Amino acid sequence: MGVRIAASILAADFAHLADELARAEAGGADWVHIDVMDGCFVPNLTYGAKVIETVRRCTDLPLDVHMMVLEPQKYFDDFAAAGATSMTIHAEVAPHMQRQLSRIKELGCSAGVAINPSTPVTAVSEVVRELDLLLVMTVNPGFGGQAFIPYMPGKVARARALLHEHGSAAALEVDGGISRSTVAEVWRAGADTFVAGNAIFSAADAADEIRAMRAACGVPV
Ligand code: DX5
Ligand code: ZN
Repeated sequence: MGVRIAASILAADFAHLADELARAEAGGADWVHIDVMDGCFVPNLTYGAKVIETVRRCTDLPLDVHMMVLEPQKYFDDFAAAGATSMTIHAEVAPHMQRQLSRIKELGCSAGVAINPSTPVTAVSEVVRELDLLLVMTVNPGFGGQAFIPYMPGKVARARALLHEHGSAAALEVDGGISRSTVAEVWRAGADTFVAGNAIFSAADAADEIRAMRAACGVPV
């Protein structure tokens, strides 16, 4: 199992988005993470299909779209057409999670579910077979640059056990406050995919930060 790094453009300089994406890609990022926020599910507003489509034109990396929105199904068709590789919806606002995940896959995308820090991993236990990705939030979603919640590794371990119990090959992603100093704990707990925004885009040398994250996990770089 490798260390997959998903660079969150929330922390990028949007005046130079193409350059920022090139910097992350050249630095070794595996995915681009796109945080869609609606000002309702989370107290912040970001971007939608137009930005996904713009990023798609700038890079061939997979686009990992994290949908922090009420009624995410309203956007599935547009985001798939814009070039999303995966779409991840929040369990807290997914009363018809099985149907929503099926629809994402019908559109040719990978399907993920995210859970907030206070949401138990059992929120997804009945649909594990539908999951291509499980995202355990390590901060409360809405803003970049927040501090990693120190007791989340225990939850990541429970999430890994749940996937294992179901024989699932889903990616286990963590998001929020991930950097060279927090990544190892969640890696040891069983995460394999690490979203990093400020750690990568606020670094003078993105490649060095990504290398340091892999090295902290003990993975040859
Ligand atoms: C937070 C977002 C994150 C954010 C992470 O709501 O889901 O993806 O960009 O930012 P950092 O890595 O700066 O904590
Ligand atoms: Zn995110």
